[in-house]
Amino acid sequence: MLSERLQKALNAQVNYEFYSAYTYLAMSAYAESEDLEGFANFFKVQYEEELFHAMKFYNYINQMDGRVVIESMEKPQVEYDSILHLFESGYEHEKTVTAKIYNLADIATEEKEHATISLLQWFIDEQVEEEQNFNTIIKKLKRIESNPAALYMLDDELSTRVFTPPAANA
Ligand code: FEO
Repeated sequence: MLSERLQKALNAQVNYEFYSAYTYLAMSAYAESEDLEGFANFFKVQYEEELFHAMKFYNYINQMDGRVVIESMEKPQVEYDSILHLFESGYEHEKTVTAKIYNLADIATEEKEHATISLLQWFIDEQVEEEQNFNTIIKKLKRIESNPAALYMLDDELSTRVFTPPAANA
């Protein structure tokens, strides 16, 4: 049984993960509008990952006999200055997510809620990968700067990214 405080914090995270999905879908739409389908695909996969994260928290709250409450959502940012700006914003977004996950882990640790600590460990590991994905692409984008041929090569590379749901017990 989750404490009221922990349930409330986990619920906030369900909603934030949905907001993350929405944010990445808006980023995908921006990339589409720039005719960069590979970058758009990267963000579409990111959108799917965030839906998976939201549902992982959602299912966990239900498993623990809690009550999920879906809230209304803020409009995500839809305009960006460039593809680099898009990825920098994504990176900042992921850092915010990491801080939220760490805060949840602090609450769960304080309450000695070991099942929740175990769930959050998965997210802590996931965030390392999430931040790295963005950071790597930002570094590449800075290196290729205003070289359109290299930009299209990277766009091509990102068109192959697919969403693979983690194993059933993940
Ligand atoms: Fe759900 Fe990208 O963190």
